[in-house]
Amino acid sequence: MVVNWSVIRKLMVAAFLLFTSIICLVDFLPRHMEKGYTTIAAQIIKPRADDREDIFIPKFKRYHDSQTEKERLKSEQNLGRMDLIRKANSDPLPQRIFKGNAKEMCSGKKGEEFCIPKFKQLETRIRVANNYKLMTCIIQKSMSTVMTAIMCYLFNENEFTAAGREFARECTAVRFCQGKNEFPQVLGVRKGYNISTKAETKKWKFTMITRDPVDRFLSGYVDKCIRYPHGGGYCNGCHRNMTCFILSEYDRIKSQLSRGHLFRSFEDRHFFPQNWRCDLHKEYSNYRFLRYSSDPSETLLDDLIEILHEQNVPDSSIQFIQNQLTLSRTVHSTVQSEARTFYEQRLRSSPFLLEYIVRIFYYDYTLLNYPFPEGF
Ligand SMILES: *[C@@H]1O[C@H](CO)[C@@H](O)[C@H](O)[C@H]1NC(C)=O
Ligand SMILES: *[C@@H]1O[C@H](CO)[C@@H](O)[C@H](O)[C@H]1NC(C)=O
Repeated sequence: MVVNWSVIRKLMVAAFLLFTSIICLVDFLPRHMEKGYTTIAAQIIKPRADDREDIFIPKFKRYHDSQTEKERLKSEQNLGRMDLIRKANSDPLPQRIFKGNAKEMCSGKKGEEFCIPKFKQLETRIRVANNYKLMTCIIQKSMSTVMTAIMCYLFNENEFTAAGREFARECTAVRFCQGKNEFPQVLGVRKGYNISTKAETKKWKFTMITRDPVDRFLSGYVDKCIRYPHGGGYCNGCHRNMTCFILSEYDRIKSQLSRGHLFRSFEDRHFFPQNWRCDLHKEYSNYRFLRYSSDPSETLLDDLIEILHEQNVPDSSIQFIQNQLTLSRTVHSTVQSEARTFYEQRLRSSPFLLEYIVRIFYYDYTLLNYPFPEGF
C-alpha cells in the first residue's frame, strides 16, 4: 500500500485546526457572550460562596456573653442619641418633584427615568424541607431567623428534637442544618429534587416572607445606620441624616444599574428591592408570599400553619413550631425605639421622601401587593 504522506499531513493539520476551533468555540465564546450579556442586560450577579458576609448568622435570643453585652450597650447608646438624630434631620423638606400618582410616575417611559426597574438578580438563599416539599427563600430582616429554624426543624424533625435543639438556641440549630438544606438558587432545588414539570412544581410550596417597603426600609435603616453602624463612611457617609441616605441610595442604585453592575455592600443589600431576590424574575408566579409580622407567633403563624397543613406536616410538628415561636423573640428588633418612632414620623409625613421610597420600591408595592403610601 502506498502511503501518501502529503495527504496525511494535510489531514492532520485540518484535524488540529478543527480541534482547536472547537475548543475555542466551546470554551471562550460562551464566556465572551456571557460577558457581553452582563454588560447589555445588567442583571447577572452570581452568588459568591466565599463572601464572609454572605454567611448568614442569625441572631435569636442568644446567650449572654461579653460580646453581645457590649453590642447591646453600644446599640442602646446609639439609639439614645436623640439630640444628634434630631439635629441631623432638622432641615425642612422640599415639595415633591413629580406631581402625580405612583403609576403615572413609574410605568411607561417616565418610569424608566424616575423609578427603579423590577426583577434584577441580586441574590437568593433557599432553605428546604424536602420531605414536605417545602421551600422558603430568606431575606435578612424578614424573619429569616425564624424561617431558617422552622425549615431546619422540618428538614429532619426527629434528629432535631433528639439532639435537643430549640429554636432559641439558634446558632446550634443553624449549624445543625448548615450545608444540608441550603441552596443559592431555585434552580439548584429544582435539579436536586427533580422539580421539572408544572405538575411537580404545584406539589411544592415555594414561600417567601415579604415586608411593607416603608417598614422594611425603616427597620433596615435604624438597624444598620443608627443602631449598629459599620465603618467610618457608613450609610453612604450620611451618618444620621436620613434624607441624605435616601437620596444617595437612590442615586447609587441608578448609577449601578446604568453601569450594568450591582455592588452589594453591607448596607445595600438591606435597601435593594425585595423583588430582586429569590429568583423572582423567573419564579414569581410559583411563590406563595407570606407577610412579615413583628411578632412571629401572630399573623405569620396562621398563614404558615395553613401551608404546613397543605403539605401534610403532622399536627405534632406544627404544635412544636407553635410552641417554639411563642418562646423566642429576636434580639435586634428595632420596632419600639424612640429613634425608630422619630424616623418613621419624619418619613411618613414627607411626600418628598416618600416619593423616593416609591421610586425605589415601586415594584415591591405592585408585585408583592402592598398599598402605596397615602397620596400615591
Ligand atoms: C424526574 O421526573 C421525571 C418526570 O416526572 C421522571 O421522568 C424522571 O424519571 C425523574 N427522575 C428522577 C431521577 O427521579
Ligand atoms: C441632610 O441631607 C440633605 C441632603 O443631602 C441636605 O440637603 C440637608 O441639608 C442635610 N441636613 C442637615 C441638617 O445637615
